[in-house]
Amino acid sequence: MSRRIHVIGIGVGDPEYMTLQAIKALNDTQVFFAMDKGRNKGDAKDDLVALRRAICARFIREPGYRFVELPDPQRSRDGDYREAVSDWHAARARIWAKAISDELGPDGVGAFLAWGDPSLYDSTLRILDAVAAEADISYDVIPGITAVQALTARHRIPLNDVGEPVLITTGRQLRAHGVSGSAVVMLDADCSFQACPPDTRIWWGAYLGTEDELLISGTVGDVGPRIAALRADARARHGWIMDTYLLRGATR
Ligand SMILES: C[S@@+](CC[C@H](N)C(=O)[O-])C[C@H]1O[C@@H](n2cnc3c(N)ncnc32)[C@H](O)[C@@H]1O
Repeated sequence: MSRRIHVIGIGVGDPEYMTLQAIKALNDTQVFFAMDKGRNKGDAKDDLVALRRAICARFIREPGYRFVELPDPQRSRDGDYREAVSDWHAARARIWAKAISDELGPDGVGAFLAWGDPSLYDSTLRILDAVAAEADISYDVIPGITAVQALTARHRIPLNDVGEPVLITTGRQLRAHGVSGSAVVMLDADCSFQACPPDTRIWWGAYLGTEDELLISGTVGDVGPRIAALRADARARHGWIMDTYLLRGATR
């Protein structure tokens, strides 16, 4: 007998992105583990914790479940980035292992709710892998609607050009390496598309799947300044922003 954990992709904002599999896993769960919101006041995490609770309230038929908030250790901002992330994951894994054994009975079922899909720019699976190396747990993964899918659906566009690859990358990587062909950019606080040639096409979306959703498309030269201004304004009003965009270099 071992403790079971569901890692449930909950989509990126619209509760109706929840799949039937995700709803089934929610209803199988006794304890939901979530990051401590208190340490992250003023950023997106307060709103995201609230959305997770709303999803549970909406889709769980028998409200016998509990939320357990896990303290989120601080990540070092000094030294090597990858080393700092790896130390931070190890610290999280220790906290998670203890919480899972303290909060779940020997055959108990817990869950982590992952924004979007757990496989995309999310550390939950890496950390659980480290937990599983030390504790007697098994876990499964329920896929969710990612920001990439929400973006292309809302703009009604295909992700790739015919027979062509797609790169999924970050703002930091875009600034370092530029882009050719199609690329989706996530985790970009700096409007890095501004460094692309002006005839690059862009499809941009923020707060996708929520009532605050913003969508703009055009070429970087035409709409880039408008996106940057709207983004700064929305970020100031909400206190946080999440945006994603697809770039396609002009064919030469
Ligand atoms: C840590 S990653 C998590 C991605 C998530 N696992 C997924 O499947 O989309 C966070 C980034 O996802 C993108 N993102 C997440 N939710 C979004 C939303 N509702 N609208 C636009 N972009 C979003 C943003 O680029 C944000 O910086």
